[in-house]
Amino acid sequence: AHYLVLEVEKQVVGYCGIWIVMDDAQITNIAVSPAYRGRRFGEALLKAAMKLCRMKRAVQLSLEVRVSNHIAQSLYKKLGFEPGGIRKNYYTDNGEDALLMWVRLNES
Ligand SMILES: CC(C)(COP(=O)(O)OP(=O)(O)OC[C@H]1O[C@@H](n2cnc3c(N)ncnc32)[C@H](O)[C@@H]1OP(=O)(O)O)[C@@H](O)C(=O)NCCC(=O)NCCS
Repeated sequence: AHYLVLEVEKQVVGYCGIWIVMDDAQITNIAVSPAYRGRRFGEALLKAAMKLCRMKRAVQLSLEVRVSNHIAQSLYKKLGFEPGGIRKNYYTDNGEDALLMWVRLNES
């Protein structure tokens, strides 16, 4: 498990969690503090996570995202992630479906 944090003036304003098992990597979570969104910090965190996964020799990276979370999906598509299926009733708080997205790391 790896956790990247993004700091502005010594304050953590974003983070990204990554699990790597053999050559398979997953983003477990990524978030930027509301006041700091829209400044490409999320993109920088995800790019750093992808770089780390490549360094650790992972060949694919996947994640789950709420079907309603179009902002995060847009970020993932921008960095080459493609939809790979739906996990029904994945989120226990409201029963929302998850969209599975993935990218091959050796092609980008
Ligand atoms: C998703 C999240 C991490 C994006 O972080 P961010 O720093 O605000 O995003 P960035 O400024 O790096 O934007 C990068 C890309 O994300 C997408 N994006 C970001 N904000 C957007 C918005 N308001 N509307 C649409 N797309 C948006 C765009 O594709 C953008 O690229 P562009 O600027 O070239 O259009 C942030 O919105 C967040 O923390 N959300 C709450 C937690 C969350 O949903 N995490 C994902 C769980 S799977």
